[in-house]
Amino acid sequence: MALLNPSLLRLLICLIPIFYVWKCLSSPLRKCPGPWSSLFTSWILKWHEFHANRTRYVHHLHVLYGPVVRIAPNEVSFASLEGIKEIYCSGGSGYDKTEFYNLFQVYGRRTMFSTLNKADHAKRKRILADRYANTNIMRPVVLDGIKERSLRFIGRCSESVGGTVDLFICLHDYAFDCITHHLFHPYGSDSLLKQGDEEIMKEVTFDESLKNRLLQYYHPELHKLIGNILHYFAKPRQTPLADNLVLGASSRTEPAQFTLLSRMQEKNYNLEQLDMAAECLDHMAAGIDTTGDALCFLMWEISQPNMIHVQQRLQEELRDNPDVEFDRLPYLDAVVLEGLRCFPAIPMSLPRYVPNGGRTIDGFFVPGGTIVSCQAYSTQRIDQNVFPNPDTFNPDRWLEERGDLDRKRLFFAFASGGRGCVGKHLALAEMKTLLRDVYTRFKTVPDETMKPEMMQMSDQLISSQPREQKCLMRLVPLQN
Ligand code: HEM
Repeated sequence: MALLNPSLLRLLICLIPIFYVWKCLSSPLRKCPGPWSSLFTSWILKWHEFHANRTRYVHHLHVLYGPVVRIAPNEVSFASLEGIKEIYCSGGSGYDKTEFYNLFQVYGRRTMFSTLNKADHAKRKRILADRYANTNIMRPVVLDGIKERSLRFIGRCSESVGGTVDLFICLHDYAFDCITHHLFHPYGSDSLLKQGDEEIMKEVTFDESLKNRLLQYYHPELHKLIGNILHYFAKPRQTPLADNLVLGASSRTEPAQFTLLSRMQEKNYNLEQLDMAAECLDHMAAGIDTTGDALCFLMWEISQPNMIHVQQRLQEELRDNPDVEFDRLPYLDAVVLEGLRCFPAIPMSLPRYVPNGGRTIDGFFVPGGTIVSCQAYSTQRIDQNVFPNPDTFNPDRWLEERGDLDRKRLFFAFASGGRGCVGKHLALAEMKTLLRDVYTRFKTVPDETMKPEMMQMSDQLISSQPREQKCLMRLVPLQN
């Protein structure tokens, strides 16, 4: 009854904001550099997130405030080696993931990527890692599959001579065909040749669910309540064609021995069929956008008029070493590393929880339960002693002996530690095979209709894409 007393109510209403301000001001995070507003509210960060601009906003704060920056009342971003080592590598696989990764559950199941704690993750990784180990990727049967798909890509390029080819589409087709080969050959896709399969790739790639899924993350109750009308304004993620492919393929028997499916079907692992399908769909999505977008940004960059020398040097290396394996070509390696440094396919924060009791990270005490992260876009740029002229695409920096270790330690495109990218060796094999095949045959020149702003980085939920989702290119055959 006392609560109904109007004076008491007024007092309470006044006290709530005072208490909130007091709580923010007494937070240990007040000692972290950052905009004052971030001590009180996460709305500015969320605004940028909802506008597909989180990565650039966080980077802007790093440029202003240095390698440690508070970005929200309960969130700190690090762009330093100390940050990477503590958050992602301490104890092997670093801190536990946050509920952000709930958004990546598939068919209601947790996959390796979306498991939150170390124990569950380690159990699943013990089963899956074998098929992505470099020794498995370098087997002729795996590489031949990649080479075959790369030549199909070259077929699409050859057909386009005299006109243009949309690299955004073809590179995603290539990544799709390569990853499904690795997941469940012979039941994989053939989107470089078949229109129907290309539609599946488009369904996965042209996803517009960012706002819907962010709302689901930040306000799950509200999302449940208004989910039915929300889809008129913010589309949910729906991939019926891809589901159909994966559910069908993952129930087939006798996939090729090198595939992920064959590993998961081994009896001793006791995996349910839906778990296998969930894992395959997750890896399929992980394999399409990352490799497709990384190649697209990279090929766009080296096609610019001021980058012709990069293409020429690459072409010389490829021409002079026709029998050398793709992983033994230093300039090709440098071009790929520089591409992933300037345009990491997953450029943004990979959020983790500070364990109970708190930790000191890069000189700042951070209480347990705080969200901490690093983002590749910043770790690969912020320290100009390690990466001079960080916004310039310069493969040569990777060929210098001096500073080599520092560069590699801050290279975070595949993340680090036990939860780093399991598909790294596959992705590199796909990227290098394709670049070799293209640049031994063609010079690439952007179509005149393409403007730089069309290729600006636009954040998806965790990866990034060229803003206009297209990259028209002219392929000019080389005179040999
Ligand atoms: C250029 C290509 C690629 C890049 C830049 C990339 C980057 C990354 C990054 C940064 C992570 C850590 C994400 C996090 O902690 O939230 C990751 C994890 C992962 N990636 Fe990749 N990736 C690429 C290609 C691939 C491919 C081809 C696959 C194929 C299966 C793949 C499968 C995965 C999986 C399953 C995880 C989760 C690993 C775990 O939690 O143990 N990735 N990737």
